[in-house]
Amino acid sequence: MAERGKFIVFEGLDGCGKSTQLNLLCENIQAAGEKVVCHTTFEPTDGPIGRLIRSALRKEVSFSQETMAMLYAADRREHVEKEILPLLEQGINVLCDRYYFSNFAYQSDAVSLERLMMFNGYAMENLKPDITVFMDASPEACVSKIAESRESADLYETLEKLTQVKEAYLKVFELLSETHRVITIEPMETKHMTADKLWQLLADEFIGG
Ligand code: TMP
Repeated sequence: MAERGKFIVFEGLDGCGKSTQLNLLCENIQAAGEKVVCHTTFEPTDGPIGRLIRSALRKEVSFSQETMAMLYAADRREHVEKEILPLLEQGINVLCDRYYFSNFAYQSDAVSLERLMMFNGYAMENLKPDITVFMDASPEACVSKIAESRESADLYETLEKLTQVKEAYLKVFELLSETHRVITIEPMETKHMTADKLWQLLADEFIGG
């Protein structure tokens, strides 16, 4: 049986550049050896629950904050069982853009952490990330990046919200530090410099160091 793949999660504020870094890490993993295979994925997913969430993010439909929190967790539940676990079992490394830490950071202003953890029980019990990479960009830098790239902001993309989200991320990383390995990386001058730095930190995981 193939050795189980690694599950690496990227977390950070909207506009922090995590999707770019996730793709560059995947390229580095693939280049590390012929047999090293890497799959990228994201949450909210492009499945039925994820699409419903995205229409709420675009403010086309509206749900109570608790319903939104449950939708994220339900989307994750399906994602883990149907897509991520089967790939890991085949020995494929999976890089995921956002996971349950996003739920804890973004929804904990409206729903208690205890309740959010209960909603995420399946994911927390069955698939803990091997490593979580936190892209530690400032809320100010993220808001100006979003303003440059889009005409209108999504539901959570205000300076006030992102400042609160960053604090919530730091709090929950601290709270779960005994059971979760989190690597914090600040964006550098260029995306390639950041990717090189991240690869220095993670290469051993993939080339058997
Ligand atoms: P994205 O910008 O990474 O595609 O994520 C879309 C938005 O969804 C982003 O503003 C963060 C939010 N989100 C939550 O609030 N809770 C969650 O559990 C997840 C996965 C995303």
